[in-house]
Amino acid sequence: MLKNFLFIAAVLLFSCNTKQESKTVSTEYNDPHRPQIHFSPKSGWMNDPNGMVYHNGTYHLFFQYYPDSTVWGPMHWGHATSTDLVHWKELPIALYPDSLGYIFSGSAVVDEKNTSGFGKDGKAPMIAIFTHHDMAKEKTGQTDVETQSIAYSLDEGATWTKYDGNPVVKNPDIRDFRDPKVHWNEQTSKWIMTLATKDRITFYSSPNFKEWTRESDFGSDVGAHGGVWECPDLFALDYNGQKVWVLIVNINPGGPNGGSATQYFTGQFDGHTFTPYQTDTRWIDYGPDEYAGITWSNTGDRKIFIGWMSNWQYANLVPTEKWRSATTIARELGLQKIGDKFLVTSVTVKELSVIEEKTTTLTDIAKASFGLTEKVGKLDGPAKITMAADAIGPFTLTLANEVGEKLQIGYDATLKEYFIDRSQSGKIDFEKGFGKKHISPRLSVKPNMDITLVIDDASVELFADGGLSVMTEIFFPTENFTNITLQLPGNQTIKTLQYTPLKSIWK
Ligand code: FRU
Repeated sequence: MLKNFLFIAAVLLFSCNTKQESKTVSTEYNDPHRPQIHFSPKSGWMNDPNGMVYHNGTYHLFFQYYPDSTVWGPMHWGHATSTDLVHWKELPIALYPDSLGYIFSGSAVVDEKNTSGFGKDGKAPMIAIFTHHDMAKEKTGQTDVETQSIAYSLDEGATWTKYDGNPVVKNPDIRDFRDPKVHWNEQTSKWIMTLATKDRITFYSSPNFKEWTRESDFGSDVGAHGGVWECPDLFALDYNGQKVWVLIVNINPGGPNGGSATQYFTGQFDGHTFTPYQTDTRWIDYGPDEYAGITWSNTGDRKIFIGWMSNWQYANLVPTEKWRSATTIARELGLQKIGDKFLVTSVTVKELSVIEEKTTTLTDIAKASFGLTEKVGKLDGPAKITMAADAIGPFTLTLANEVGEKLQIGYDATLKEYFIDRSQSGKIDFEKGFGKKHISPRLSVKPNMDITLVIDDASVELFADGGLSVMTEIFFPTENFTNITLQLPGNQTIKTLQYTPLKSIWK
């Protein structure tokens, strides 16, 4: 009898608990404009992704975080983890501001060889390297505001100990001196730090993460210089057996569509100096809303990139309430060669398929105006749309709601440009430059069309031509977009269109 009673009580308790739990989850991530397939903090402000490192089957994502407000403030490193790069779990704050300053952007590695000596009992330490930004010095107008410091973790990034010899790189009288990204360089058997130093990149090397030697500078006379250089990254990609180095440099402002954006250079790196192959300016993502993007450490040959899905031009003003900003979808980087140029491509990571629901495939669409909603039903949450055709032609895909707001995504065949137009997308007047049409050049020289769109409640990511032209764009309709129409003014035939609803990662 008592046993039965206990059993029933336990079942009741369990079902109450699970109900309560699911209720909490759905209200936390169901507020207006909350991304359903992108990471955003439960509450508070976030900007750059930081310290991304893969370790023991877990992808760590740290991020610039201010828990006490939805505008930028004293920077911490927030922390989230994932085993599939799609579902994220937010964990307690990893790094708090201290007497040396706010904790600005940086990177993390696994020190397998224990070069730092922070390892214990054979356990390799995770090391984070970040910029300490001293607000007191900033306020008094000093130049030596930013220094580089380190911390280590022996429990999978859960808790961190700051090194008592911090900072490990002092300020050489350069006001903008930040965002260290470190990799283990096989050629020299040293750590290489890639650091943004105002209008250039400075490379440092170290045998042990604690003592750093300046190696060289790059870039004061190449690339885009409409703003300060920030958040760099340096890694190699393979192109048919050839090792091509890619140097990512984020810049704010001066992006191709205004505000902040991510440029890159291809070239050679010999462990000391970066020698570029190119003289032109190139962007990883031409849209206005991918910034501070860099890659994960410790993922072998796979290079996985993630960015902050906003723009400094209006990030502090976007109309969300409990939190501000999210990351982009995780993307895999590759190379294509066009003529003698190596171009970096980004595509969604293959793991995105874990949230794909049933795909509807439509073939041979040739109508000038095609109501997709009539074929696949109303857009009801996130979705992926892919389109393929033998010949690229003009198209406009419109997402619209019942109150006349719309977002238009398309290709202008005359100008050879992709575009995303959010000028009528709903809430736009929180900043005068927000409600605009943005463009990306088509870089592919192939005749065929190949488009992937990843649509969330408040964002769209366009990957065209195998990821050669990429655009990320956020928007804030007063009601969700539910209707999709495809216009084909150039008499072209879309050979296949695939529509796949995506499951929310929070449910
Ligand atoms: C880039 C950036 C970094 C800096 C951080 C501060 O968005 O300005 O250069 O470390 O944000 O939050």
